[in-house]
Amino acid sequence: MAEKQISLRLERIASFLPSATFFADIGSDHAYLPLYVCRQDEKARAIAGEFNEGPFLSAKQNVKEANLASRVQVRKGNGLSVLQANDSISEVVIAGMGGSLIARILEEGKEKLTGVVKIIAQPNVDARSVRLWMDLHRYQIVQEDIVKEGGHIYEIIVADFNEDVSVGQLDEKDLLIGPFLKHHRSEIFREKWQVEKEKREMALKQMTKATDIDKEKVEGFEREIAIIEEVLNNEG
Ligand SMILES: C[S@@+](CC[C@H](N)C(=O)[O-])C[C@H]1O[C@@H](n2cnc3c(N)ncnc32)[C@H](O)[C@@H]1O
Repeated sequence: MAEKQISLRLERIASFLPSATFFADIGSDHAYLPLYVCRQDEKARAIAGEFNEGPFLSAKQNVKEANLASRVQVRKGNGLSVLQANDSISEVVIAGMGGSLIARILEEGKEKLTGVVKIIAQPNVDARSVRLWMDLHRYQIVQEDIVKEGGHIYEIIVADFNEDVSVGQLDEKDLLIGPFLKHHRSEIFREKWQVEKEKREMALKQMTKATDIDKEKVEGFEREIAIIEEVLNNEG
């Protein structure tokens, strides 16, 4: 079968899946990721979950056209609710959404995660919410990546279930920046955190102009700015 191009972001996400994976791609949209993985690896299988009718139909059509319906099942539904206990999937990917939505999907469907050894998440914003959820549910972050494409910078978080790990291991720097990414010193990493620092500084400036100052929020921003500066100054 002819190779099809996918985005660098999805290619990187795919690189964290093991060979012969049976994974669920939640919020699969056109099912590009499952199709790419199954074209690359003839032993791979996937469930593509999609909530919205348009993308669901598009995923179904793409799978049919690719002649991969025997290995990629497209299911319509909210989050992890598309999974059955006897599916026995081993990995879950949730990519291209906000971090709080990803964390909500994981929380609402956590009983469906029994047997899931790896979660790969790619939050577009608010990766902190995803790391916090993982930290509280014994999904230990084992790898992270950062990639720039089409003017956007994306973080990828890979976590393995580890029943022996204690919960609440990550400190504020780990949650905000990432336990692996905090050691990254790439141009992309620096660009992301320079922008994030400026956003917070701007917000802080606006907030301190208000008559009724939200002290807690101000202190939260100040703490985050201090962490970002520490990391950017290469002290972390
Ligand atoms: C921006 S797309 C990302 C598609 C793909 N995962 C990627 O990374 O390229 C987000 C997709 O998630 C779907 N979605 C949003 N909330 C969902 C939910 N609770 N359950 C399943 N799918 C959802 C949307 O309909 C949309 O197709």
